Amino acid sequence: MIKKKILEILKKKNKFKIICLTAYSKNIAQIIDRHCDIVLVGDSLGSVLYNYKSTKSVTLDIMIEHSKSVRMGVKKSLMVVDMPHNTYRDSSEALRNAKAIISKTKCDAVKLEGGKKIYNIIKTLIKNKIPVMGHLGLLPQSAKNFKAKGKKITERKTLLKDAKILEELGVFSIVLECVESSLAKEITTTLRIPTIGIGASVHCDGQVLVTDDLIGLNLIKVRFVKRFANITKQIDTAIVKYKNEVKNRKFPKKANSY
Ligand code: KIV
Repeated sequence: MIKKKILEILKKKNKFKIICLTAYSKNIAQIIDRHCDIVLVGDSLGSVLYNYKSTKSVTLDIMIEHSKSVRMGVKKSLMVVDMPHNTYRDSSEALRNAKAIISKTKCDAVKLEGGKKIYNIIKTLIKNKIPVMGHLGLLPQSAKNFKAKGKKITERKTLLKDAKILEELGVFSIVLECVESSLAKEITTTLRIPTIGIGASVHCDGQVLVTDDLIGLNLIKVRFVKRFANITKQIDTAIVKYKNEVKNRKFPKKANSY
């Protein structure tokens, strides 16, 4: 039986945009949960929080610990957890690890990077009733470069084919990362399941961003990110105020003391 929350996501196709954001901890999760359809515990936390050169160094344990924290903040959205690199090299490894992620974090679904190459793996997960979100285009866990995908004819054909394969396998939606706009449009109009874009144009059914990027906590400059706030500046201002009050003996006051 398809989960109610997944059905709600599927029903949004061609009607309402799907809002997706990343969370790595409870505090951010409970803010974004009010506004999102999907909260993703992305393995992007490897670069955003741990300064790893790539997401390849993210482990299952790291994903599980962050996801447990996120779970405490997510009440209404669908919670999806990335399966990190080297945790789904074959079907039995994938099944064991996906089951561990779901049972330990109580998330609703897992996300895996790839198309035809991981056909049997996704088939096994879905056969075992594990809801799967696909991820095509730029695949950070295996990428040799960080260029947009789908500009070359052969790449376009492969991506469209991969998207159809994932849909046939039964994934409930697909993240399209850095996919050329007209191809993202073609994939989106071809599939019955929703596409969630990141650097893949307005044509996708939904949009995902790394929350730390959009609020200006992770100060990276990439084309597909728009900074909607400057939280770094706001935190800095608050810390300066705190520092000055402590130095000038204005804090703590009697009311803050026992
Ligand atoms: O790891 C991540 O945060 C992601 C999104 C950027 C789609 O996969």
